[in-house]
Amino acid sequence: MKKPVVTGATGFIGKHLCSLLTAPNVLTRSPENVPSEFGSSACFRWNPQTEAPPGEALSECDAVFHLAGEPVADGRWTKSKKKRILNSRVGGTWNLIAGLRAMDSPPSVLVSASAVGYYGSRHDEELTEEAPAASGFLAEVCQEWEAAALTAEELGVRVVTIRIGLVLGKEGGAMARMLPIFKLGAGGNLGNGKQWMPWIHVKDLARLFVFAAEHDTLSGPVNGSAPNPVRNRDFTRAVGRSVRRPTLFPAPAFALRLAVGEFAEVLLASQRVLPRAAQDAGFEFRYSNIDAALAEL
Ligand SMILES: NC(=O)c1ccc[n+]([C@@H]2O[C@H](COP(=O)([O-])OP(=O)(O)OC[C@H]3O[C@@H](n4cnc5c(N)ncnc54)[C@H](OP(=O)(O)O)[C@@H]3O)[C@@H](O)[C@H]2O)c1
Repeated sequence: MKKPVVTGATGFIGKHLCSLLTAPNVLTRSPENVPSEFGSSACFRWNPQTEAPPGEALSECDAVFHLAGEPVADGRWTKSKKKRILNSRVGGTWNLIAGLRAMDSPPSVLVSASAVGYYGSRHDEELTEEAPAASGFLAEVCQEWEAAALTAEELGVRVVTIRIGLVLGKEGGAMARMLPIFKLGAGGNLGNGKQWMPWIHVKDLARLFVFAAEHDTLSGPVNGSAPNPVRNRDFTRAVGRSVRRPTLFPAPAFALRLAVGEFAEVLLASQRVLPRAAQDAGFEFRYSNIDAALAEL
């Protein structure tokens, strides 16, 4: 990769991804707030919801990583929040592709984020990339988001959509919120704890994005989750072990629904996702079991 471009670079996953790339162009709504760790990267102002990216940001780029989107886990899913979740991803992807369409020579690859929300909640079913999509808000957002990204194939761009699971890292995502609760000894199962959780260490996920850009054999959906998903109760015990605290305080489903509304369905969804496409292409996970991943955190 000579010139990568990253959207959502300032986010939790984007920062890890950028640390693996050489001087990527950063597309952001607020160049003035881009932290100094981005060093030699050129930053370009872009609001995914309203416009195509500036041509100079894409000029001569050979790979685009697309991660921008309104946070899903922050705040209640009001009507306006849901509109932002959808528009920032689907509208944002259409706008990005309008920018690629205007290029004389489009990049060779687009690696776009998607989410395991695509699969809905499926009890104990093993979910490889072939499993059909579910219905429901997030599943429909993911389908439209992926469909928008795939239109770049018309331009001769190879497109990979990474269906991301629960991303584990110190600096953000779910762990940053959960760890303080577990450290107080106030952690516990969510609902009955039987639901499967497709987790991935953020360092493996960043490596998977780069791997997808560099491996021509990969295209279409790629599950972005570790090979050993765990049930919520086993995840809870593993987090408790890692911080040496008991995990005696379950959050019953009704309480979760009261506390966070419709987002509770995401926490309670059972998704036994397997990363078949990544492993078939030769990707090696450094954190394939939950205890090793938590130990690194
Ligand atoms: N973290 C997870 O566990 C997880 C799981 C499944 C899927 N994903 C997906 O992976 C992508 C990256 O996740 P992340 O955890 O790194 O997200 P994040 O930390 O919330 O960062 C997302 C980035 O998107 C941009 N953004 C935020 N709100 C926006 C809006 N309303 N319109 C347009 N852009 C907006 C921001 O960049 P600027 O402020 O610089 O513009 C932000 O840095 C997301 O699309 C997310 O849905 C994440």
